[in-house]
Amino acid sequence: MITLGFESSCDETSVSIVKDGREVLSNEISSQIEIHRLFGGVVPEIASRKHVSSISPVLDIAMEKAGIGYEDIDLITATRGPGLIGALLVGLTAGRTLALALNKPFVGVNHIKGHICANYITHPQLEPPFVGLIVSGGHSYLIHVNDYVDFTLYGRTRDDAAGEAFDKVARAMGIGYPGGPIIDKLAKEGEPTYDLPRVWLEKDSYDFSFSGLKTAVLNELNIAKQKGIEIVPENMARSFQDAVVEVLVEKTYHLAYETGEKTIVLAGGVSANSALRKAMEERGEKEGFTIYYPDSILCTDNAAMIASAGYYEYHSKNRENIVYADPNLGLEKE
Ligand code: KG4
Ligand code: ZN
Repeated sequence: MITLGFESSCDETSVSIVKDGREVLSNEISSQIEIHRLFGGVVPEIASRKHVSSISPVLDIAMEKAGIGYEDIDLITATRGPGLIGALLVGLTAGRTLALALNKPFVGVNHIKGHICANYITHPQLEPPFVGLIVSGGHSYLIHVNDYVDFTLYGRTRDDAAGEAFDKVARAMGIGYPGGPIIDKLAKEGEPTYDLPRVWLEKDSYDFSFSGLKTAVLNELNIAKQKGIEIVPENMARSFQDAVVEVLVEKTYHLAYETGEKTIVLAGGVSANSALRKAMEERGEKEGFTIYYPDSILCTDNAAMIASAGYYEYHSKNRENIVYADPNLGLEKE
């Protein structure tokens, strides 16, 4: 079965063609990062306009690289949320229009579920159930993946998402955008010399909170400025990253022990973080857990994961078939 996927929820315009939910025939990604970098973050209005101008050329390239014609497509999918409403509408409208014109079925996809499916592409042997940690620029979720379309939600962020904290801290430090990859790289050269908080919340809570940690970094930066002391960026990056990683690892393993699952799956932009991967794997090796995460290109936003999620959704008996955009869609609602 050949699935065509569209992704345009934030600052990547992506079109992908995936066979049988797992085999990528093409995955074309046009990133707007260079444009938004000038502003230190994604500007929604600019994102929508750029999606409009990019979507057709990106579709053409994806079709050409896959070496297929429109008649070969069996299913069309697009991200319907969460994301920026103007941005979402571009990919969703393109997908729905094409489905109508070609008389093919259409499935609207939850972007967060898509992030998990990136793992099915990278690891053909991976099957649910497992414990999933989804950490991206917009979301942080700790879930039990019951099957391809069904999840039990255990924890979510109460304020900033993990990736958002990376981005805000990097911006405050003046080291660039997006912050995640920059902090990841800097931290490799640093020591955890700054004493930053680990926010655990109530006993046994699986929720996250990263805004206090972000504020603690801002305080350190302000105090240093007032005292005329230079911050060591490598050490600050390392201290901050250690604090995020420790909480993510601890809560994820806590859930793995509670649910009895031996498989832990990471997803979302922050799952590209080298320290998070290493800490998860080191503990996994000691305690007998297997850790999966997507290839780096599939960690951040892409349409291949949307095509995969749409494929599994299409085959689900309980498919709701909602095709309108919902910028606030989470895992909570479903
Ligand atoms: O999944 P994604 O592309 O977008 C959302 O759906 O939100 O994730 C983007 C986020 C950004 O916040 C970025 O800073 C973060 O993922 N990120 C990383 C790394 N690479 C990307 N965070 C930590 N370490 C990385 N290596
Ligand atoms: Zn994403």
